[in-house]
Amino acid sequence: MNALLGTGARQFGAAVVRSRGLAVRAVRREAVAIRQAESGDVGAIHELIAGHVAEGHLLPRTPAEIAAHASRFVVATDGYQIVGCADIAPLSDAVSEVRSLVIGAAARGLGIGHGLVNELVRRAGSAGVRTLCAFTSAPGFFVQMGFSVVPHSWLPEKIQADCRSCTRFRSCGQYALMLPLGQSCQR
Ligand SMILES: CC(C)(COP(=O)(O)OP(=O)(O)OC[C@H]1O[C@@H](n2cnc3c(N)ncnc32)[C@H](O)[C@@H]1OP(=O)(O)O)[C@@H](O)C(=O)NCCC(=O)NCCS
Repeated sequence: MNALLGTGARQFGAAVVRSRGLAVRAVRREAVAIRQAESGDVGAIHELIAGHVAEGHLLPRTPAEIAAHASRFVVATDGYQIVGCADIAPLSDAVSEVRSLVIGAAARGLGIGHGLVNELVRRAGSAGVRTLCAFTSAPGFFVQMGFSVVPHSWLPEKIQADCRSCTRFRSCGQYALMLPLGQSCQR
């Protein structure tokens, strides 16, 4: 299902896509649609994530891993171009985690990140999930969306699923964030 970004309180805007320093075209917020990822999107999602790992807030994902979970991803598209993505990973029946949230550098500040997270909130709520969480070294965006920074121990599902096998267990630099569903910031 396609969903155009809401036009709520935020102003329409445009961000310019640059290639080798030349402005080639603008990403217009009103042209951006959000939909579930399809198998044909795997390469573009991988490229988007890989292209922003160096910023330091994303974990790398392999194409095989993305393909195995393609139906969990939502993507933001501007025409045929994927300009953003996010993954929702179930940790238990009640708790799911937002992963691999990234917007292409040229498409930021247009409300696309909010649109993707709100779409994950909608999907999680429909599936009966009670809590959405995220783990990141840059919590500001999620706090702005209504998530709260919480002790890691409030999310035992994550500790069980990932933290115990992580080399940085108990010395992790990431913040744990939690959103009881129904409290997201609609923009
Ligand atoms: C974080 C990110 C997803 C935001 O996407 P976006 O489409 O630019 O966000 P939106 O346009 O929906 O929202 C922009 C708002 O979020 C705020 N924001 C964005 N990143 C932020 C951060 N790291 N800390 C605090 N606020 C942040 C902006 O200041 C802006 O606020 P304003 O509307 O009051 O001016 C994007 O910057 C990104 O891909 N970053 C690199 C990867 C990353 O950090 N992913 C999240 C952790 S997994």
